[in-house]
Amino acid sequence: MNLFDAIRRRRSVRKYSGEELSDGEIGWIEGLLEGERTYQSDVSAGAALLLEGKRFQEDLSGVVANYGKVEAPHYLVLTSEGTNKGYVEIGYRYEYLVLALTATGVGTCWIGKGFDDDVLEDYVSIPPGQTCNALIAFGPPASDQTLDEIEKPHRRKAEDFVINGDGDALGDEVRRIVDCLRRAPSSINSQPWRVGIEDYAIHLFMRKRSGITRRFITSLSVMNRIDSGIGLCHLEVAGKKIWGDSLIENLSKRDRDGMSYIGSLVCSQG
Ligand SMILES: Cc1cc2nc3c(=O)[nH]c(=O)nc-3n(C[C@H](O)[C@H](O)[C@H](O)COP(=O)(O)O)c2cc1C
Repeated sequence: MNLFDAIRRRRSVRKYSGEELSDGEIGWIEGLLEGERTYQSDVSAGAALLLEGKRFQEDLSGVVANYGKVEAPHYLVLTSEGTNKGYVEIGYRYEYLVLALTATGVGTCWIGKGFDDDVLEDYVSIPPGQTCNALIAFGPPASDQTLDEIEKPHRRKAEDFVINGDGDALGDEVRRIVDCLRRAPSSINSQPWRVGIEDYAIHLFMRKRSGITRRFITSLSVMNRIDSGIGLCHLEVAGKKIWGDSLIENLSKRDRDGMSYIGSLVCSQG
């Protein structure tokens, strides 16, 4: 299965079979991490494999997830510089891995971090200048958690993400690309993505939270930056399949009222 098809099958898996992945599968994941894609190469971000998921959960029982307990055999620990760009980068880079794992039937779940970096000391080393901002739980799903195609995802309608023009009048190709975007995972399913559509370009914005919400849930605005990077990954996978030669670029668009610019999918036909 390719990454594009994986978008329609991916969902957050919170129940795992209890089995671990084989050494061969772990070696394949290490290879994927070495060849990882970057959106903004000047950003410092990275990932470390935490393979002893069971021991980790025992050490931290109750701390791993700040909502919805997820007990997986393995985790990917995602680190970055503490900037907006750093959080977006994590989402973009490692959603590629999520889709690659989904394509081979491995279950995944993004997890917002709800503990201090100290608890990771025994497991991974965190590069200087970076902190852990999220985890990805992964492993063989429980037998009732198969990754079948999802006909109707629990999401807003494609047109609700469009901020310019008449969303109802979306062309077929753009609608299919936006469908791939809205299927992306996001923290508490907040779906913060908004898009400005031009001929052969889709500009991604993130809905900003109100001042009051921001002050009380700082971690949610960090999470929404990660969600935005995840959205860029879905746009790119969909654009390459539906438009052909296309890529994600930072066109430095101005923020809009209540929305931060994240990046653009640009098709070379345009
Ligand atoms: C950055 C991020 C953090 C998340 N944190 C958690 C978490 O801590 N616990 C959890 O159970 N799910 C978590 N999720 C999964 C979301 O709840 C899930 O993506 C969303 O509800 C949509 O469901 P789906 O992934 O099955 O399509 C997170 C997702 C993202 C992208």
